[in-house]
Amino acid sequence: MTDHTVSTRTTPLTDAPDTPQPTPPEAGTGTSTGAYRAAWRRSIEQREEFWLDAARLVDWVDPPSAALTEHSPTDYRWFADGTLNTSYNALDRHVLAGRGDHTALIYDSAMTGTRARISYRDLLDRVARFAGVLRAAGVGRGDRVVVYLPMIPEAVVAMLACARIGAVHSVVFGGFAASELAVRIDDARPTVLVTASGGLEPGKAVEYLPLVRKALDLSAGSVHTVIVQNRHAIPGSAADYASDTGDDAAVRWLDWAEASAAATPADPVTVASDDPLYILYTSGTTGNPKGIIRDNGGHAVALTWSMRNIYDIGPDDVFWAASDVGWVVGHSYIVYAPLLAGATTVIYEGKPIGTPDAGAFWRVVQDYRVNVLFTAPTAIRAIRRVDPELAELARYDVSSLTALFLAGERLDPETFHWANDGLHCPVVDHWWQTETGWAICANPRGIEELPTKPGSTAVPVPGYDIAILDSKGARITKPGKDGNIAIRLPLPPGSLLGIWGGDDRFASAYLTAFPGFYATGDSGHIDADGYLYVMGRTDDVINVAGHRLSTGSLEEVLTRHPAIAECAVLGVHDPLKGQRAAGFVTLKAGWVVDHDLLRNELVNLVREHIGPVAAFRDVTILERLPKTRSGKILRKTIRQIVDGEPYKVPPTIEDPTTLDALVRAVRPIPD
Ligand code: COA
Ligand code: AMP
Repeated sequence: MTDHTVSTRTTPLTDAPDTPQPTPPEAGTGTSTGAYRAAWRRSIEQREEFWLDAARLVDWVDPPSAALTEHSPTDYRWFADGTLNTSYNALDRHVLAGRGDHTALIYDSAMTGTRARISYRDLLDRVARFAGVLRAAGVGRGDRVVVYLPMIPEAVVAMLACARIGAVHSVVFGGFAASELAVRIDDARPTVLVTASGGLEPGKAVEYLPLVRKALDLSAGSVHTVIVQNRHAIPGSAADYASDTGDDAAVRWLDWAEASAAATPADPVTVASDDPLYILYTSGTTGNPKGIIRDNGGHAVALTWSMRNIYDIGPDDVFWAASDVGWVVGHSYIVYAPLLAGATTVIYEGKPIGTPDAGAFWRVVQDYRVNVLFTAPTAIRAIRRVDPELAELARYDVSSLTALFLAGERLDPETFHWANDGLHCPVVDHWWQTETGWAICANPRGIEELPTKPGSTAVPVPGYDIAILDSKGARITKPGKDGNIAIRLPLPPGSLLGIWGGDDRFASAYLTAFPGFYATGDSGHIDADGYLYVMGRTDDVINVAGHRLSTGSLEEVLTRHPAIAECAVLGVHDPLKGQRAAGFVTLKAGWVVDHDLLRNELVNLVREHIGPVAAFRDVTILERLPKTRSGKILRKTIRQIVDGEPYKVPPTIEDPTTLDALVRAVRPIPD
């Protein structure tokens, strides 16, 4: 096994956490060459030069004259007077540079057995044609298009086709229920929806069309055209499509292949740097998801820069983000970044285990000579659970792999060590959010490979100035002391432009808690070497298998049940998925129900209203919820009890016997 440096102590790499402003860079000493430190300082102290240099990685129609335009400390734009087209940068320019035959996209479906290689030229042709289809359907610059597709190349094509004509895509993950799709339709107000006749999950088919029909019925009616990719590879899906689409008069249903064949290919249109490229909904603290808006220019610059500097990936490399296009990781690192960099991306329809076995990832790495694999820790835990000795790995040649990057949830040190010891490449934990669109903290391997510390997401990426703040917003200077993780404004290029449909929502959700900073919603600490440790959320967002969910929206669903008086949903520890949602409910007076029946009804209610992605199965029925005298549910104490952690009975508790009852309910005493 290669010895990747795993350290517990290194030379400080960032400014000491008690230094409020960056000081001039010092020469790197000890294990660091100083290259990272110099890059980070330049990104903060010579922001204009740093980002204008990075902007040269992108082809502009009108190159920007300035990097940052600040209207106020909280209102700023990147590359404001620049104009460009993102799809041109992802496709045309590589073809024009003579790389048309280079593989842009590899499609590997473990579900259907389909494999395909699509060259840059071919992908450009498909995108231009589909852009023509959208244009013929009346879609223009600034119009929204909802994309609700499984992991097939058409998802990439639809996204880039929107970018080509200046339209704004909003991709909805396939595991969400019809009502969640409807909420997103009502917020984004698209005129066109792109979907498929079917998807496949292990052991079952996912029928998209009935879900789409239901969502259209539930929503306010902005969609006038639905374009359907007819998946012949799925038995029966063609027939379903025909019968499902026949009798709907209000909405026009188009067949993807027929419409594309007849379409006039569309050229890229020039858009402003700060025109929106996409809206991606993510869970917040309320039941209403937040539509994160991404710009064109800042996004193209940041992602292109990240490929070389963080992942150390160039045009001849193969990059595989084993995620889903419905999540930010899929947007940034299945679709945009690898193509902007002229590399090869992989779109994999399958799971880490069971499709057919725990060697699935290693097979894909071998077959396509993948250089960097990026996935969520849950996927690695799933493989470890089935194949603890990594026997499957031995069947494949994974020597092409230069690094395994993980993100989306906390990487527990045990999983880190298992992967680090078993794989012949460095394992890199990095931290980011839908809002930022790319890594906030990472080991920037393309600049300098820093020592790894298990449990840490390493150091701030150039562009991000991180501080740990206490609840009053004062900087915590003591290394290792937990607090709120905040990012000093302005956020770097690529980060969110705002929240769709609500100017105030951006400020109130992120910018008011700590003036001058963006509140990440995460808590953690920085050690004496400047390494960040992300410990958890400070709000009611939870992460189930790397999927971000709001416990508030789960609670809203549970209270719809007529028998439920009160409820609390918490994220509790799950050995596979990191966290799982656990529901605690009380019944209305006078209700006598069979508890198993009620649990099933609640589980099905969540499935129907949020979707299978919530993976909600855990319901505890209580007489009363543990609360303070002022009526606040004792969430932390409940979680500690469920997780088997030591807990103190809070002095403000209304009734201590409610905790005893909870202990009995979650850990039944044997007869
Ligand atoms: N469309 C429709 N349904 C979907 C779906 C999709 N795209 N993705 C998941 N689902 C369904 C699953 O079929 C499952 O349904 P079920 O309750 O009927 O079985 C449910 O949603 C929960 O799925 P999941 O959380 O994936 O759990 P799982 O038990 O099926 O699989 C893992 C477990 C570990 C294999 C899986 O969670 C995994 O691959 N995780 C990797 C994490 C990841 O890629 N995260 C992305 C962020 S980087
Ligand atoms: P999402 O917006 O779905 O990408 O989820 C973002 C949230 O996931 C962050 O705010 C963190 O809470 C969590 N997260 C992402 N990456 C990491 C990581 N490497 N370590 C710990 N938590 C992470």
